[in-house]
Formats: sequence, structure tokens, C-alpha cells
Amino acid sequence: MLSLISTNLFKPVAISENIELSHRLVHAPLTRYRASKKHVPTDLMLQYYDDRSKTPGSLVIMEATFISPKAGGYDNVPGIWSKNQIDAWKLITNKVHQNGSFASLQLWALGRQAKPDVLANENQKFVSSSSDIYINDLDRELAEKLDNPLTGLTLSEIDQWIQDYAQAAQNAIDAGFDVVEIHAAHGYLIDQFVQKTANQRTDEYGGSIENRSKFLLNIVDAIIDKISDAKKVAIRLSPWAQHGGMKGTFSDLHPIATFGYVISELQKRADNGNQLAYISIVEPRASGNQTVSDEIASLGDNQWIYHIWKGIIIRAGTYTSDSPKYSNIIKDVQNNNRTLIAIGRHFVSNPDLVQRLKNGWPLTDYDRSTFYIIESNFGYNDWPIYGDTPTHRDNQFSNKTAVPLA
Ligand code: PHB
Repeated sequence: MLSLISTNLFKPVAISENIELSHRLVHAPLTRYRASKKHVPTDLMLQYYDDRSKTPGSLVIMEATFISPKAGGYDNVPGIWSKNQIDAWKLITNKVHQNGSFASLQLWALGRQAKPDVLANENQKFVSSSSDIYINDLDRELAEKLDNPLTGLTLSEIDQWIQDYAQAAQNAIDAGFDVVEIHAAHGYLIDQFVQKTANQRTDEYGGSIENRSKFLLNIVDAIIDKISDAKKVAIRLSPWAQHGGMKGTFSDLHPIATFGYVISELQKRADNGNQLAYISIVEPRASGNQTVSDEIASLGDNQWIYHIWKGIIIRAGTYTSDSPKYSNIIKDVQNNNRTLIAIGRHFVSNPDLVQRLKNGWPLTDYDRSTFYIIESNFGYNDWPIYGDTPTHRDNQFSNKTAVPLA
């Protein structure tokens, strides 16, 4: 068996002139609810990302972050619209850079996955590509009770949203991020335009694959235009996932047809001088924060993307679940010279994951019950590095509460 250290995983790769990675193990974006009530990054987040960027030349993709107050609908998720948020993020990107590593920020808007009660508290509308296509009846009941029913964006609202994405990208660059990653996966707002199950529009943003992809592509173009450097822009897609009420694998129109179009449009931009930093793709084994059954996962695979997209691909989804064999990591990184592997859950419980894989050290199991404890350090910065004894449950730091950085 190959040891990981002798595979492409530990070979350097440049994703642009300014982003030279020393290895190909990426921190996947992870929602953790450790920002403040006002959506400002906290001291706990600073420590979390410091710990996970310690190996120089690492790429850390940070958690999905709201582009504007309108994009929210979950508590304690960070944002990137206010001066305080930008200042707080700056402290985090500075730390990552001091460690010799690189930071990518995921730009997020929830659309119909927002919680209607959180939107009501924040005085925001409940929006999607189309009116009235709720994910479930509970959301419908609550939204109607709060007099905030789900409405499809108007054409002028769409124009404003596209500008909001561009401004958020600029804010992220101002905050020191090396890359902005457009979150177009997992049934959130952009995916609600792309996939027909949520999009029943009859105008230029609905109907054909081209029309449904238009919101996504207009956002890509507006961001490139705004920050004048495509190499700082990336995108995440999840063709197979059923997260957020998407059909994914079971779409009437096969996901390769829909996402094949999207990716060929992105390659067209690359051919015309606007090469994105990377495409991040979720494996059919994962859907949002869940693992998919082997039977359903086996209905998809991502090999086709390499025929269309000629740039860097980051793949994510249960790659460490067969530790210490890592057979999927080895298979996929050895297949070509442009694949990076993103790890989520095991990066939570192994701050030194890069060193563990490099040295063949065993992994600490993660604890899902502590993934989402609002503002708490419990299950967050209390995981030992290899060789340290206390488990996270009796660590002295577990009781700390998050304090905003600005
Ligand atoms: C989640 O909060 O569960 C979540 C966030 C972003 C994703 C998937 C899941 O892409």
C-alpha cells in the first residue's frame, strides 16, 4: 500500500502565481455557529483557523459566510458586509498568512433554506428563485404565520443580489482573503436557481438549463469584473446532493447535463483569460453535512468533470472514512496532477490533520453532537493535537464563550 506521503497529496501545487500550496489537503468549509449574534467572527474562530493553518502552504476554506443581511436566516453565522466583520476577518486572514498558509472564504445566501423565525427577527424577506415552493410544510406554516411567505426574486432584485455578491467578494479581498468561493451547492440560493425542482420561473432566469444557470454565471462574471482577477474566484457545486430539497442524483434531467453546461461555461471563461482558482465539487458520497448510503452514492461519480474543466478540482466527501487506508484519497490524487482533497469532519477533531496524514498518525473520531453549539468552545478548540492526552470532553478550554473580534 502507498503511504500518503509518497502520493501527490504531499506534492506542492500552485493554484495561481500567488497561491503556492505545499500539499493538497484542504480544509473544507464548515458551518459551526461560533460567530457572534451580530454575525461578526470571534476569538474562537481565530484560534480554530490558526490551529488548522499551521502547516505552511495549506489552503483553508472558511465557513460559509453571509454576503449581506438579506442572505441570512441562521443565527451565529459570520457575515462579510459590515466594517466590523471585515476588520474581524482581517485578524483571521493575517494569522493564516503568518502561518504561511492561504485563506478562501465561502460566499453564502440561504434563500428558501433560511429559518423563517430568524428572518423575522432580522426583518428580512424569505426569498428564492420562485414563490411558494417550500422545502416542507413546517416552513410554509411558519412563514405564513409570520406573514413572510416565500417569494421569487424580481428581475430588479436579482440585479441587486448580483451586485451584493460582487461587493461581498470585494469585502473579502479587502479582508485579506486569497480566494472567494461562491457557494453554489447544496440547495442554497444559487442552486435554487440552477435546479428545476426549486425554479419554476418563466422569464430569462427559468426554464432551460441556460436560463437556470444564468444567476450563477452572472454572479461569477460580476465578481470577476469587480475584483479584476478571476484567479481569486472559485465555486462550489454539488451535482448529486439532495441537501435542501434538491433532487441531485434523482433529477428528471440528469445532473451531468445541468452541471456539464455550468462547468463548460466556466471553462469557456478560462479559455478567454478568466481562469478560476478552482472548482470545488462534492462527491456523491456526501450531501451537505450528511453521508449518503453506498447504494445511492454508487449512482454518481465526478470523473466526467475532468473532460470539461481543465483547471484545479477540489473534491470533498468522506475521504477519511476508511482511515488508515485512505484508498479514495490515493485513487483520486494519483489519477492526475490537479486534484486536491478537502476534509471536513475529521478536520474538526484533528487540528493537526495535515501532520497526522503526513506521518501516518491515527485520527481522533469526531463528535457530531458538538458540531453546532452556538458560541461555545465545547467541541471546537478543545481537540488535542497528536500525542496530547486530554480528550475534548475534559479539556479546560471547553467552557469558553465566543467574543467578537471587532
Ligand atoms: C449546514 O449548515 O448544514 C450546511 C452548510 C453548508 C453546506 C451544507 C450544509 O454546504
